[in-house]
Amino acid sequence: LRMILIGPPGAGKGTQAPKIKERFSCCHLATGDMLRSQVAKKTPLGREAKKIMDQGGLVSDDIVIGMIKEELENNKECQGGFILDGFPRTVPQAEGLDAMLKERGQTLQHAVELQIDDSLLVARITGRLIHPASGRSYHTTFNPPKEAMKDDVTGEPLIQRSDDNADALKKRLGAYHKQTAPVVGYYQNSGIWKGLDASQQPGEVWKNMLDILEGKK
Ligand code: AP5
Ligand code: ZN
Repeated sequence: LRMILIGPPGAGKGTQAPKIKERFSCCHLATGDMLRSQVAKKTPLGREAKKIMDQGGLVSDDIVIGMIKEELENNKECQGGFILDGFPRTVPQAEGLDAMLKERGQTLQHAVELQIDDSLLVARITGRLIHPASGRSYHTTFNPPKEAMKDDVTGEPLIQRSDDNADALKKRLGAYHKQTAPVVGYYQNSGIWKGLDASQQPGEVWKNMLDILEGKK
């Protein structure tokens, strides 16, 4: 499977991607997770990226394109295909991805857009809890962990992302509508785009996702 997931902050990309990974045995590459791991390690890139991420802006195209290229080349899990989550989110990134795939003699099979109204996203974002090491996410109300503030799998503490506040969300939504909306147009023109109603319950979203990926929709 070779696909990308497009959608605004809180649409459910990081919730659906691990299910797709499990079903189709491919890798899940989330540029946001990769950047947060650099931030946690306090690398020079991480220090630079943290400022931009906390303000809800976008990190430079060259950096994220380089990160994806490196993973596609070296991550063994990607031999079974890939789900890109949060990439590409600018047209130059989409062009960069096309060039990368062309070099490998591959094409994308699906570009799925998770569609949801901005008004529903504040509650999702402000209630989100994450397990930093794995990127697993929970929600205080919509998807609570079995034990309060602890990861279901490892029992390690859950935290809130530093960009998960109403202020940064406003800016992330602004960046989405301005810089990522044209990416939707890019894939609509390429014929592999499908839209999916992401305001439904996670299980419903998953059912519709499978229908798309198995060619039933
Ligand atoms: P990134 O980590 O990609 O954040 P984002 O795009 O803002 O998306 P989120 O992770 O917030 O949302 P999601 O769709 O994954 O939602 P989730 O499934 O967790 O990027 C962060 C930053 O990094 C960017 O702002 C930028 O600075 C930088 N960056 C990253 N990629 C970049 C790139 N390519 N170029 C440049 N800069 C880049 O769900 C959210 C919550 O809702 C959870 O609590 C979940 O439990 C809950 N939920 C999920 N689905 C449902 C449902 N159906 N019903 C009810 N609740 C639900
Ligand atoms: Zn995410």
